Amino acid sequence: MPANNNMDLQLEMSRVASAVDKQFDLMLVVPDDARAQLFETMRHAAIGGGKRLRPLLVMATSRLFNVDENCALRAATALEALHVYSLIHDDLPCMDDDDIRRGKPTAHKAYGEAQAVLAGDALHALAFELLADENTHSDPFVRAEMVACLAKAAGPSGMAGGQMMDLVAETATFDLPTVTRLQQLKTGALISACIEIGSILGRVPVEGRTGLRGYAHNLGLAFQIADDILDVEGDEVLTGKALHKDEKAGKQTFLSLMGLDRAKEQAQMLVDQAKSHLNGYGEEADLLRAIAEFTVQRDR
Ligand code: IPE
Ligand code: IPE
Ligand code: MG
Ligand code: MG
Ligand code: MG
Repeated sequence: MPANNNMDLQLEMSRVASAVDKQFDLMLVVPDDARAQLFETMRHAAIGGGKRLRPLLVMATSRLFNVDENCALRAATALEALHVYSLIHDDLPCMDDDDIRRGKPTAHKAYGEAQAVLAGDALHALAFELLADENTHSDPFVRAEMVACLAKAAGPSGMAGGQMMDLVAETATFDLPTVTRLQQLKTGALISACIEIGSILGRVPVEGRTGLRGYAHNLGLAFQIADDILDVEGDEVLTGKALHKDEKAGKQTFLSLMGLDRAKEQAQMLVDQAKSHLNGYGEEADLLRAIAEFTVQRDR
């Protein structure tokens, strides 16, 4: 990746991260009543930390179509809220049973299991509330399309379905096409929704979304392969989470099926394919290209 693209990416990532932090800070003011613990748990999980890759994807895609930055940021925050909910629940003792997330105690470690379940529920709902809000887009058809898109990506044919397959994979043997589908649902669906929602905000007709959908599909798979590679050879301080857990838990990943070297090749091939789907765009899509390279080169 050329140095200037890398610098632009770092700058954009930190800009988006602080903007998303600010949004959550404004939305999640702790009330002076019996709900305080719920808000504190939501704030703990949502503010500070994380790469904010999903909001960055919404911003980078909507920028291609000159979407108003404030509208895009609200949609971007919705995608991050949904993602944070998925992390809170993924870390619960009944799921991956993790103690550290984003370099801090997981929500249930810090505030208790019931609080963490509720904080996840509330962030899930907040995501849809944001997308359905007229400040996010004035056209109700655009809002309805975004809501439907996120619902599909989060539900049984998306993230939740993929998480179920991930649990089943601990005791069953899956072939490569099934593991690919697992990864696509568990992680890819939400990543695709970010790019789709950027396009919806930009009022891009469905026929005009083919290249971006191809990019998103390849990026989502590459992203989860990179996560699985980090589990094997990453640094716990940099990633901010416990590693070396997938094999012990019997998770089935591209790594468990094809080994580290081939999984790395596969991830880079997916990134190259993702970028080739952007050939119809000029330098306005350089941020999306840089994000794709970052996805596999990242150390966190
Ligand atoms: C981790 O996602 C969970 C997966 C879907 C692999 P990220 O690696 O994007 O986590 P944060 O948001 O940076 O903490
Ligand atoms: C989680 O995948 C995907 C989600 C839908 C949250 P992982 O379980 O591999 O994510 P990490 O490694 O805990 O971040
Ligand atoms: Mg998991
Ligand atoms: Mg996990
Ligand atoms: Mg993982």
